[in-house]
Amino acid sequence: MNHRLKSLVFKLLQQLPTKWGDYIYHRFQNAIAKSIEAEYTSQMDTVNRFVKLAAEQGFAFAGKRVVEIGSGWLPVLPYELVFDHQAAEVLTFDINAHFQAGRIREYNRFISSRKGISLPNHLPRSVRYFPQTNILEMADLSDLDVLVSRNVLEHVSPADLKSIHQQAYSYLKHGGFVIHQISPSDHRAYSDHSLSLWDFLRYSQGMWDSIQTRFDYHNRWRLPQYIDMFKHCGFRVRYLSYKSARPGQKLPERIHEDFRIFSEEELTAGNIMVVLDKG
Ligand SMILES: C[S@@+](CC[C@H](N)C(=O)[O-])C[C@H]1O[C@@H](n2cnc3c(N)ncnc32)[C@H](O)[C@@H]1O
Repeated sequence: MNHRLKSLVFKLLQQLPTKWGDYIYHRFQNAIAKSIEAEYTSQMDTVNRFVKLAAEQGFAFAGKRVVEIGSGWLPVLPYELVFDHQAAEVLTFDINAHFQAGRIREYNRFISSRKGISLPNHLPRSVRYFPQTNILEMADLSDLDVLVSRNVLEHVSPADLKSIHQQAYSYLKHGGFVIHQISPSDHRAYSDHSLSLWDFLRYSQGMWDSIQTRFDYHNRWRLPQYIDMFKHCGFRVRYLSYKSARPGQKLPERIHEDFRIFSEEELTAGNIMVVLDKG
């Protein structure tokens, strides 16, 4: 979809009262949503990588209490961690309320038949969903072992990113760990291939804020900014990987001066995976 048209739709939705904007946004997303099976398959890549990376670092999910930031539309990661990797429970937070009863029923049927288990029509007790909840507002998060997120941190404001990790450093138990997958590229380019994956680096912050909306907020942080923030909050980076630009993938000809402090590799680092611990 042309990025200008999509931005215009989001701008119009943003003008509506929140309830109506959210309702129409959900209808729009449902219309373009992948099938349950396709969504499951695409998210399983991340689940498998999280489990493998954790094991390589000497960590496991079994028996652990896990927090997920950014539940999204389906509880793929929570279900896998609970049913296949024996996590004790997953508390999953989202500032929006994207889970929908019908889609959860459909997902439960899919998972029941795939795993040969019997799931109710609603979320199982071991997956606790906190919609429209900023994790920073939770007073009691003591006794948790693991923090995970998939394709979420790029949508969180810099101030909240720092507070979330300061808070996580204090509530994670000794021996606890964090795994994030971060997607720092310009998401408009996923559906409009005329754009560079880093097109938004052309803009000043003010200009970018006039383009983006609450439906497609992106902080535009580059790899070193995440790493500095994790360390600043006390975490040790145990593992880091990212993908560099592939042949043919190019930065825009001019990028804004705010980003010129970064090398080309830092600017284009994508699909970031990090494993952190408390050192
Ligand atoms: C791109 S989706 C990814 C969802 C899911 N993790 C996945 O991989 O499909 C980003 C999600 O993060 C949520 N989100 C954005 N900022 C957040 C925040 N500060 N706290 C919790 N969730 C947030 C959005 O509402 C959205 O559901």
